[in-house]
This record gives sequence, C-alpha cells and structure tokens, in this order.
Amino acid sequence: MSEIHLGIACDMHVHVREGAMSELVTPTIREGGISVAYIMPNLQPPVTTLDRVIDYKNQLEKLAPQTTFLMSFYLSKELTPELIHEAASKGAIQGVKCYPAGVTTNSAAGVDPNDFSDFYPIFKAMEQENLVLNLHGEKPSVAGDGTDIHVLNAEESFLPALKKLHNDFPNLKIILEHCTTEAAVNTISEINKNIEDASQVKVAATLTAHHLFLTIDDWAGNPINFCKPVAKLPSDKRALVRAATSGKPYFFFGSDSAPHPLANKAKHVGVCAGVYSQSLAVPYLAEIFEKTDALDKLKGFVSDFGLQFYGVKTEQLKSQDEVVLYRKEQTVPDSISDGKGIVVAPFKAGDKLNWSVKWVTK
Ligand code: DOR
Ligand code: ZN
Repeated sequence: MSEIHLGIACDMHVHVREGAMSELVTPTIREGGISVAYIMPNLQPPVTTLDRVIDYKNQLEKLAPQTTFLMSFYLSKELTPELIHEAASKGAIQGVKCYPAGVTTNSAAGVDPNDFSDFYPIFKAMEQENLVLNLHGEKPSVAGDGTDIHVLNAEESFLPALKKLHNDFPNLKIILEHCTTEAAVNTISEINKNIEDASQVKVAATLTAHHLFLTIDDWAGNPINFCKPVAKLPSDKRALVRAATSGKPYFFFGSDSAPHPLANKAKHVGVCAGVYSQSLAVPYLAEIFEKTDALDKLKGFVSDFGLQFYGVKTEQLKSQDEVVLYRKEQTVPDSISDGKGIVVAPFKAGDKLNWSVKWVTK
C-alpha cells in the first residue's frame, strides 16, 4: 500500500489559540491532512458567549478558509440553558468543553468534577439539542487527605464521574477526551458493549497521536513531551494503540495539539502542558497504524467515526478536497516559526516519518 485515500479527515480536539500564535498554527491544520477541526475554548478569558464564539470562528476561517471549524463553549457558571438553546439553534457551537479547575492550561475557570449537579440544567439543554459534552477526564491532584490523587491516577479516578454522567443523561453525547489509560479504554468499551452500529454511540473517546507513542519515561525530563493528561505506562500505551486500531466507532482522533511558545517549554519551573502535533497530524498516525499492520483501519479512526459522532454534514464542509496519504519520507522540522518571535517545537522534532499527505480536489 503506497497511497491511502482517507476522504475528509477530522481532528476532533484542536487548540489554535488567538493572535500571533493562531496566525502561525491555524493554517497548519490543513498541512497535517485535516479538513474538519473541533476547536477548544480555553482561551483567556474562556469562550462563554455567543458573540465571542462567532467572532473566534470568523477569525479562524480567515486564517484557513478551506478548513471546517466546529466550535465549543467552555463549561462555566456563565452558561445558561437559554444560551445553549440559542447557540445550538444558530449552529454556533457543536459542544461544550468541561475542564476540572486547575488540571491543565487555562483551566482556572473550570469546574469541580466531584459535583456536576450545578450544571445539570446545562446538560439537559445540551441533550435536547444533541450537543456534545467534551470531558477533560482528570480529577485535580490532592495529597495528604487520604485521597491521594496525582497525575498517574487522575484519569482513572475520574471514570466513575463519567459513568454517573452517562447514567444521569443517557442520551447526552459525551466524549472522554485524550484518553491515556487502559482503564479508560476498558470503561469506554464496557459502556459500548451492546452497540450494534455507529449511530447508537453516545459515549466515545478521542485519542491523540502523541499518546500512541509516549510513555512516562518520555516526558519525565523532557518538557516538549509534557502534556495533560500525562502519558502513562507501556501497558496503557499498548491499550491505546489497540483502541485506535480496533475499528470501533467509539474511538476516534483528537490530536489535542496544544502549541506553546518554546520559551514556555524551555524553563525549569512552571513548564506549560501541551504537545504541538498539528502540522504532521496524519503522518504521525500513519507511523503507528503501519507498525501495527492496521493501515486499513486508519480511515475509520481519522475520518468516518468522528464525522459520524458529531453528525457533520457534507453541506457544512468548507472544502470537499480529500486527503491522500502517500509513502514519502520526511523529517520533522526542529521548530516552526513566524519569523517574528513565535517559535514552537513540534512533536518528534528531527525524527523521520515514512508518510506525507497531499490533497485531491473533488
Ligand atoms: O496538555 C494539554 N495542553 N492539555 C490540555 O488539556 C490543555 C492543553 C493546552 O491548552 O495547552
Ligand atoms: Zn486539549
């Protein structure tokens, strides 16, 4: 297999920031082979109003006119059920992202994951509007009170909260974002054990490219590979690769590409969490799928399942161009830069990749 047609590829978890950083990274969504991007709202301040989300989408469309942007609100006390209904009826958002306070970049305005009850009226409105609840599934770290939550068990500790939400809102579409553990993969599989076809899936998980490569040893001592949730044990990584290549419609791609200025990575305290992988998103995936002899499963993972879960319609697409993966070696650049001071280090900088992408116009 030297050419693989992937159709309309989508990345259902993308951070493109604002300002100069956004100008640099937003066009790289297409460079990485992606047509449809679901955009995260953890800006400063977070995206919680209709005007802001519409304005943000317009900015992004100017920077990348051929990319289709799906937008989200940031779950906070500022949201109301009325706002959810209005935003949904205008097609302004496809979902709401929930950040537990303090677990990652720009999450200070987030929620207490030990008690979601204040947000139940919001979830009810979302369920009625068929919007997606995107969960950053980690409990905040605590030590010394007998609970002992830390970066290695934070995701597994969150899984009961995911199950409770699904129980309380069985028709709400929920995504456990950027899964990193075998426990999370097992929970998602268990919830979906009676699913007969993709249209029935209510609870899905996104998987990043970098978590299919990394384990704990790769970020301990290397801030470029540090992200939240952190990469875990080899057994977890193996479970993630099995899930990504399983052909199951409840596991699909969300890169969680999260650019930070190199200066904020190259310091010894307060290193920013986030791996930038956007400009080579599909080629990174191809490495893993080829190594596991699963290239035939890549289109489901990176195109079909995400589009189906979000119900993306052909009329919504900004471009009908389709992406083709082809065998051509390339070297990941050491950095990408706007020439005006913003420098970002890409995932696997300096490494060789076996695959490249090109576009065919329909
Ligand atoms: O590593 C991460 N970086 N994880 C997140 O959840 C947020 C992201 C960011 O915005 O930088
Ligand atoms: Zn993210």
